[in-house]
Parts: sequence; structure tokens; C-alpha cells
Amino acid sequence: MSTTLKYLRALSDPTRLRIMALLERDELSVNELQEITRMGQSRISTHLGLLLDSGLVESRREGKRTFYKLSPQSDGAAGEFVQLAIRGARELPEQAGDQINLRRILGRRREQAQVYFNQVAGRFDRVYGPGRSWQAFGHLLLRIVPPLIVADLGSGEGLLSELLARRCKKVIAVDNSEKIVAFGAAKARKNNLKNLEFRLGDLQNPPVEAQSVDLVILSQALHHAEEPARAVAGAYRMLRPGGQIMILDLARHKFEKAHELYGDRWPGFAESDLQRWLEEAGFKKTEISVVAREEQPPHFETILASGQK
Ligand SMILES: C[S@@+](CC[C@H](N)C(=O)[O-])C[C@H]1O[C@@H](n2cnc3c(N)ncnc32)[C@H](O)[C@@H]1O
Repeated sequence: MSTTLKYLRALSDPTRLRIMALLERDELSVNELQEITRMGQSRISTHLGLLLDSGLVESRREGKRTFYKLSPQSDGAAGEFVQLAIRGARELPEQAGDQINLRRILGRRREQAQVYFNQVAGRFDRVYGPGRSWQAFGHLLLRIVPPLIVADLGSGEGLLSELLARRCKKVIAVDNSEKIVAFGAAKARKNNLKNLEFRLGDLQNPPVEAQSVDLVILSQALHHAEEPARAVAGAYRMLRPGGQIMILDLARHKFEKAHELYGDRWPGFAESDLQRWLEEAGFKKTEISVVAREEQPPHFETILASGQK
């Protein structure tokens, strides 16, 4: 059958013209079309079947529902027929009622989305949201980081170092565990991160030249150091003028098992300890605050302390 004849046959019925005009605004499900046109499901489905066969309409499944929409008009002829159908629908007595019902249905869809957000308002940041994660936020924030040279002291296997290396000019990851350094270096090679260098060393006296880096990070590492103040002073030495130190560590806690479970030397720190060490080392513009609190006992709190050389 010729394409023209196929289109003509598909549109030779007032209900199908009405459906075409309704689908012009948005995709609709069978239920929605039923509600708008006040017709039974089998009638609507039969008409939709014929429109699908003609190629003027297409469908997509979402869970248990199927949505119908006008096909993207690949050839000029299809476009002309679609316009003809919409004009034809305007001549029908049902047109005004259809359009009112359509607006109501589309309005209800918008409200349903709003109802959800109204329900979760106030706890939205704590509920699951598809695609929302700290990892994704981390990547977003990384895009605004300039191309720095970074020293990550007590780096572990490089969770943070690897992330930074994707953006920074160079990242030097220092750790005193031979096995961790070997593992981290192999992982960096595997991930082709040529600007991430692992070095074996002590964070209190790291193998990093004086005045050579823009940023020193100590993430959950300072509480392992025998002399934390010495580590902070060492960080000052390796920073260029204007460079920054960022310390993420635990707030002082009473969870005694941390020593045995995690090998911790200190039970976290008071904000005043960190403030004193930063100032004694020579840092200016210091900022210290609790940035996270775990929901599960023993409710560890994380402090972020920073300063500038
Ligand atoms: C809790 S992990 C933190 C790893 C990483 N910074 C992070 O935030 O995921 C502590 C790391 O510090 C290392 N470490 C402990 N004492 C150290 C020291 N004196 N000098 C260098 N690294 C040390 C450990 O080997 C371990 O990899």
C-alpha cells in the first residue's frame, strides 16, 4: 500500500483525528487518553493500533504503562498529514472538551511531581534521590579546582589522590605502608594517571621538597601521627607562599576501640588543638568546623581545618 494511502486510511476516522490532536502537546498513556476522551479502553487501543501501524504514532514502555506520541516526522508528507489531522480535529464538536481535559491531566502530572517534593521537603537531603551522590558532587566540585600541585599525606591507596589527579597538575601521595604504596602505585598505573606519584615516607617528615606544593591534604591521617604538631609544621614548610593546608580528621571521641580496630594513635582532636598547631606552624586565615556527623553510634564527627601560608 502506498504511504499516502496508509496515512489517509489511518486518519479517516474522527476518534483518530482527536487522538492525533491530543498527542500534539505531549505523550499520553491509554488510561490518560481514556480519561480525556471518555472512551473505553478497547476502543482507544484499537485506534492507537491503527495509528501505530501507519507510522504516524509511536510508543514507549515505562514499567507497566505504555506511552504514545507523534512520530518524529522523517518525511515532509507525514508532517503534512499530521497538520491536516490536527486541523481536522478542530472541526469536531469534542475538540473543546478534549483540550480542557488534556490541560487537567497534564496539570495533574506536574502536581504529582510537586506532591513528591512537598512530601520530602525538610528531609530531602537525607532521602535517596536517583543519581544523587557525594561521589557525583565531588566530581562537580573538582571541575572548579585549578590545576594545583598537591601532597596527600597518609594517602592510603589513593581514594582522594586519584580523584584529584584527574584535575590537578600533579599529586604526590605519601604513605608509610610499603604495601599500600605498592598497591596505590599499581592502581594509578592501571588507571593511566601519570601525574599521580606514590612515595613511601612518614607524614611527619615527608619526602617532598620545601616550598614545592600548592595544597597539603591530611585526610584521616593526622590521628595516626605520633606528633601531629610536627606534621602540621612540616606541611607549612613544603607549601609555596599562599598555599593551603586542608585537614580532615575526627573530632575528639570516646570510642576506645578505635585504637585496636583502626590502629588510631589519637582519639580524634579538639578544634582548639588543631587551631593551636596551625597557628604555631605559621598558618593564617584558619577555619575550623565540624562538617559531618555519622548517624550510627558512636556518631563520629569529622572536622575540616584549613589555613593559608
Ligand atoms: C585512615 S587511612 C586514610 C587514608 C586516606 N587519606 C583517606 O582519607 O582515605 C590512614 C593512612 O595513613 C597511613 N599512615 C599512618 N601513619 C602514617 C605516618 N606516620 N606517615 C605516613 N602515613 C601514615 C596509613 O598507612 C593509612 O594508609
